[in-house]
Amino acid sequence: MRTPLLLILSASVLLTACGVDKNSPVHLRKQQFKEMMRTRESLQGMLNGRLKYEPEAFLSAAHALADQSAKPWQWFEPIPNAEDSKAKGDIWRDAHAFKQAQDDLTRSLQQLTAAAAAKPTDPTQLKPALGAVEQACTSCHKQFKLE
Ligand code: HEC
Repeated sequence: MRTPLLLILSASVLLTACGVDKNSPVHLRKQQFKEMMRTRESLQGMLNGRLKYEPEAFLSAAHALADQSAKPWQWFEPIPNAEDSKAKGDIWRDAHAFKQAQDDLTRSLQQLTAAAAAKPTDPTQLKPALGAVEQACTSCHKQFKLE
């Protein structure tokens, strides 16, 4: 009667050893960031000719990026030394600056969605607005993410 329990125990030890805990805050925030990257790529693609530019599709992707960008922050718990994370300890040492970097992204996305909603839309006007969003992503990465 002891075998099943032992099997269950060793299975959970194996799972932990693999390190893929799909409910861990590190995993959840990384998934969210990947989704943000994919959405940003489709916005970029519509402006650089890789994808067809459709004003409605651009607007809805801009809104999607704004929604997605509100989410990862809830999964930054103070466990700065998680092995599978590239988060710098400065996130917790300077929480105020980390919050400011989130607010910069929010503001740049508000401008992007406003520019995308203007009628008629002019893709050349959208480029600087998307550029500011990219800048908000990379400047936070420079400050708070390990290479
Ligand atoms: C306020 C700071 C901040 C902003 C703004 C930000 N990021 Fe990040 N991002 C991080 C941090 C911190 C990590 C490292 C997370 C970890 O490894 O725990 C990260 C990681 C990532 C990753 C790697 C995920 C992985 O699988 O390891 C991608 C991709 C990414 N961000 C995309 C974006 C995009 C796209 C934007 C803008 C739309 C953005 N980020 C804006 C802080 C930010």
